Amino acid sequence: MIEVCILDWDDAVGVQGHVPGALSTALRRLRSLGVDIVVVTAGPVEAVHRHLDPAADGMGRLLVWSGQPPRVFEIVGPGAVVDAHPSGLPRPGGKNDGGGRAVGDPGAHPVGWARRWLVDAGSPFAVLVVGDHLRAEGPVRGDAPAGALARLEEAVSDLGGFPTSGTDHAWTLEVEGFDSCRERDVESWLTVGNGRSGTRGSLEEGHPASLPAVYVAGVYGAPEGNPGGPELVRGPEWTRLAPRVGDEDLSLSQGETLEHRRVLDLRQGLVLRDWRHRLASGRECRFRSVRLASLADRTILALEAEVQSDGPTISLAGDVAVLDGPSTVDSVEERTEGDVAFVSLRGRGGHAASFRIATREHDGRVVRLVGVDRDGADAARDGGGDALEAAQLDGMDMVRARHRHAWRCRWRNADIVVGGSVRAQRALRFALYHLIASGDPEGDLASVGARGLTGPGYRGHVFWDTEVFVLPFFIWTHPPTARALLAYRYRTLDAARAKAARLGYSGALFAWESADTGDETTPPFVVMPDGTRLTILTGLQEHHISGDVAWAAWQYWRVTGDGDFVVGMGAEIIIETARFWASRAQPGDDGHYHIDEVIGPDEYHEGVDDNAFTNVLARWNLERAVEVCGLAEKLDARAWEALAGRLRLQDSEPEQWQTVATGLVDLFDHGTLLYEQFAGFCRMEDVRAVDLAPRPFTAEAVLGVSRLRDSQVVKQADVLMLAHMLPDVVPVPVADANYRYYEPRTCHGSSLSPAIHAAVAARIGVLADAERYFEMAAGIDLDDRMGNAALGVHIATMGGLWQAAVFGFGGVRPDGDVLRIDPMLPPSWERLAFPVCWRGARVRVDLNREELTVHLDLPSVLALGTGPPCELDQGSFVARRRDGGWSSFEPVGPG
Ligand code: IFM
Repeated sequence: MIEVCILDWDDAVGVQGHVPGALSTALRRLRSLGVDIVVVTAGPVEAVHRHLDPAADGMGRLLVWSGQPPRVFEIVGPGAVVDAHPSGLPRPGGKNDGGGRAVGDPGAHPVGWARRWLVDAGSPFAVLVVGDHLRAEGPVRGDAPAGALARLEEAVSDLGGFPTSGTDHAWTLEVEGFDSCRERDVESWLTVGNGRSGTRGSLEEGHPASLPAVYVAGVYGAPEGNPGGPELVRGPEWTRLAPRVGDEDLSLSQGETLEHRRVLDLRQGLVLRDWRHRLASGRECRFRSVRLASLADRTILALEAEVQSDGPTISLAGDVAVLDGPSTVDSVEERTEGDVAFVSLRGRGGHAASFRIATREHDGRVVRLVGVDRDGADAARDGGGDALEAAQLDGMDMVRARHRHAWRCRWRNADIVVGGSVRAQRALRFALYHLIASGDPEGDLASVGARGLTGPGYRGHVFWDTEVFVLPFFIWTHPPTARALLAYRYRTLDAARAKAARLGYSGALFAWESADTGDETTPPFVVMPDGTRLTILTGLQEHHISGDVAWAAWQYWRVTGDGDFVVGMGAEIIIETARFWASRAQPGDDGHYHIDEVIGPDEYHEGVDDNAFTNVLARWNLERAVEVCGLAEKLDARAWEALAGRLRLQDSEPEQWQTVATGLVDLFDHGTLLYEQFAGFCRMEDVRAVDLAPRPFTAEAVLGVSRLRDSQVVKQADVLMLAHMLPDVVPVPVADANYRYYEPRTCHGSSLSPAIHAAVAARIGVLADAERYFEMAAGIDLDDRMGNAALGVHIATMGGLWQAAVFGFGGVRPDGDVLRIDPMLPPSWERLAFPVCWRGARVRVDLNREELTVHLDLPSVLALGTGPPCELDQGSFVARRRDGGWSSFEPVGPG
């Protein structure tokens, strides 16, 4: 599957300069399927331009590398040739949109240039080079026109045939055979999603071991008599087929499976299946399928399948059924219009998820396109219907091409390359795939649940997992999605104000478990296997959620510099959460402020006083509120005045916030540099998790609930979360001391813990530990280390892996207006490369043991290690390790 084609024009047209019509046709078709074309010629751009169709309808860009010395042009429309050198390559419509970026100096060789600038350094997108001259060192004229043409036509037919997965194992997750015991884990891994909807990777023909589910973000139902609260409604199983050959059903449980292989193609965002089977009659057949949740148009889902057999008749499509099981919806509407099945599920609050499912079957092949609409339960105003019609007109090839192109743009801004550890590389790409598949940049209706849209775990409820673990990934790679997730919390501010008021406090206390409305949805109890009820206090006591949301809002502002946000939604979130803390903290007899009766991140200890994490985060939140008032006034005095008026902000409030912040106890001991996790923690039985059992484990089962409550065994990073989230407050020596105390006591009973330990260990330079924890986090889903991957992938772990790589090993962090990078590679990694968005610029970091290279598409201020800030222009710069520090940056010449 090629994504970029570099064509030697002079070779392809031959010495007579005759341009075969088939050549232009092949190029047009490649572009329409999303392939970027770079035409290389020694002649002038016009000689090429007039033979190519600039208006070709498609996503592939058309660039011309022309003349000597070379210049690079982009052909952006009829007669519109843009000089792309040297100042950068404008996209049609103007400025860099995140998908486009500047093009640098052409340098000496077009293939090297294209790899570096068009394909993007480090991301191994598939490149087809046509013309021996381009591949050889010297000017060898090889390909005759016919040869070039044949290669292009072959590429076109590959793109138009039944889709295949990429062959690069660093970009695929392969599941061979079939194991009914692991099938539900596999279904979680192989979910296709786009933030709007998610479809688990269930077999098309169904299986008793399967747990199929289709979710639409933000649409919840409330099952009657279920104390667990609202849950995401399950949509129709649109991937369901009933493949038959003659009068025999095709099923894994009958006959003999000769080969069965499923592949999650991370780069293309596709799930593919290839299954060869001998039926009970002895007849052999081959079933292939490919499915996607379009990232280009989030309302579209698609499935294509075929059966090949020498049997008499083949049929594939069966009935699409609304799932059985407890109904979580108020009503279901189903009808059929021609070959389109319409299913609408109305959940709570009038929200509905509607599916229009169009199936066409012909000659052993089925194509199914689905339009999903979130609120249009009424078919007459069904947005999903319009999208479906457009997709049907475009056809499956185009739907797939657009989808692949959208993934390609996202990978460009997100991919992490690891050299030296195949396992780490694949775990990271798996994590990035699921993160991208869980976030929707549009609207404020939904956020990311603890298992994304990949399974029923936690019913689709939204925890701090989103703001603290997932959101940083979006802030640094796709700010529009980060903003949408923050807009969701902003929309739930009234519910948070109501929760605070109900408990007797001011300001906003966000729901510990949030769903559609933002009201608290934490179940008050769970029924244990022996029938007893276990009370759940997190919804009442885990108050750090308000600080977590404020923290995420502030991070978004610091990294993006989005002034509109900070003066509007951001300021309101930060002020309302600060008001909560100002009322929540109470003065004690000792003259200090205290926060009693909370649960910190370590949920084994309930109702504790002065949890250091909560108190320090509250102090930080109060101080940011003071800062945001001044900042917002400076950025936009009128908007600020309006907001302050609407919030009835008193002049005295910032001073009160500062007083509470200064007076809050933080349980920090200046002698030992240790934070006590909460008041009295160090007097509890000193049991070390590391001495009890191989980690991770759940300590209730090992110690028993009551002994656990009175012990120092910690469920998950708690004090260490502070070291991770607030590195300015917890400098390296303090992080180090606390890591050494708390790490042996932590059992990692939560999937949130290992990746944070990896990041903190990397920061303090304990790199073997960091790598071990990274691997533990990588195995949470892929090795089912928590025993519940069947309920969906742990999306916080996915975000944690990204943070361990970029913040931990990459050492990236904002330092005022400077982007500071202080990297350290773990023992077995030889290279780490990743892009980040920093204040509107795209910064690509590429690190090995000796040197660090950065590519900038806009001028930026960077600092390395503990060194001073350095103003860098657009371009590439390298620094080398020297005497335990770094040399200064030097420009890298064109390559
Ligand atoms: O948010 C987490 C919490 O920290 C530990 N228990 C599981 C929740 C959802 O992942």
